[in-house]
Amino acid sequence: MMKTKRLFAISLLFFLIIAGCSSKKTNTDVGRNDTQKVKIEDTHSDDGRTVVGISMPDMLLERWNRDGLFLKEQFEKNDCEVILRYANNLIDTQVNDLRDMINSGADLLVITAVDGAALSDILDEAAEANIKIIAYDRLLMDTEAVDYYVSFDNYQVGVLQANYVIDALALDSAEKTFNIEFVSGDPVDNNARFFYGGAMDTLKPYIDSGTLNVMSNQTGFYETSTAQWSTDLAQQRLQIILNSYYPSGTILDAVLCANDSTALGAARALEADYSEKNPVVLTGQDGDIANIYNIFDGVQSMTVFKAMDNESVVTADLGLAILSGSKPDADLIDTSNWDFSCDYNTTDYDNGVRVVSSYLLQPITITLDNIEEELFDTGYYSRNSAGLIYAVK
Ligand code: GAL
Repeated sequence: MMKTKRLFAISLLFFLIIAGCSSKKTNTDVGRNDTQKVKIEDTHSDDGRTVVGISMPDMLLERWNRDGLFLKEQFEKNDCEVILRYANNLIDTQVNDLRDMINSGADLLVITAVDGAALSDILDEAAEANIKIIAYDRLLMDTEAVDYYVSFDNYQVGVLQANYVIDALALDSAEKTFNIEFVSGDPVDNNARFFYGGAMDTLKPYIDSGTLNVMSNQTGFYETSTAQWSTDLAQQRLQIILNSYYPSGTILDAVLCANDSTALGAARALEADYSEKNPVVLTGQDGDIANIYNIFDGVQSMTVFKAMDNESVVTADLGLAILSGSKPDADLIDTSNWDFSCDYNTTDYDNGVRVVSSYLLQPITITLDNIEEELFDTGYYSRNSAGLIYAVK
């Protein structure tokens, strides 16, 4: 049996290499993305079933509800049994979810960690049981037990937010100083560091030259961070800053928020405690529905959109390739059905124990100028008969 399996895996490997697939696709393909039908050879439980455990952090933040359903759909299309759980942003709950999945015969775990550094023990248990592990969107830290990482270029998310501020305030031709404040993400979310790094690296020259000024002097990652990406905590922190450093007559020109849930808090703080009449540049990430309304209403300036359905296709294709016995990398996964670009990165995502091979999709800037084309014409969002916006997929 094992010899047949190995023979099949080698022949599959040979076929995929010959297929000459590349992970960089131009947008020449038409039609929806979908996972390849891949024959599953290597099931951990050897019971003929292929069980995929999908562990999401919570349902409070809009995107994870959709990620979970996208992932479930892709794996079920390939005859996998899916166990989908949401951990309510509680580490213990996520550990229990993962243990349940292991005990239910999971062959593959797809995990978005509440706290990327808090799962090492349960991940070791999974690896010892020969269960494959993909870190989804957020890197799993301080563990050998992660096979691959699928996300977006998170550093680029911060760069896009910063570049929007540079353009909106015309900083390169500035003849005065502009005031900005920073609202970073959850300090236990490794992504938050990349968002912060991309933004701060891009804006640092303007801060150093005095073109940008931070009245609160809060520019460090931790002092600008927002536990659990909480809208309320972001609002409270910015209200304190406004009341402490922006008396009447002091202009705030921009607030760089790392994502939409914190941008929602910043918008509420500005509404409540900022008395000047100038429009404040406000950034975000994810394209949450409340923030899409705020973009149409001119309250939020931009968001960074990440096509989660594409992220789920990459994850499912990668997971199925791993389960079929191959050791996939950019040369081996069949990307012929992908109509989006996805970079293969083997250098930048060090999880504290080793560098994790990663598939990184590309985020895009959404503003009033392209929101209809990029989010509505593409079918991500629509409006019902009452004109209310809803997520189609
Ligand atoms: C990050 C994720 C972002 C952001 C945040 C909120 O890890 O990459 O999309 O929204 O979590 O969940």
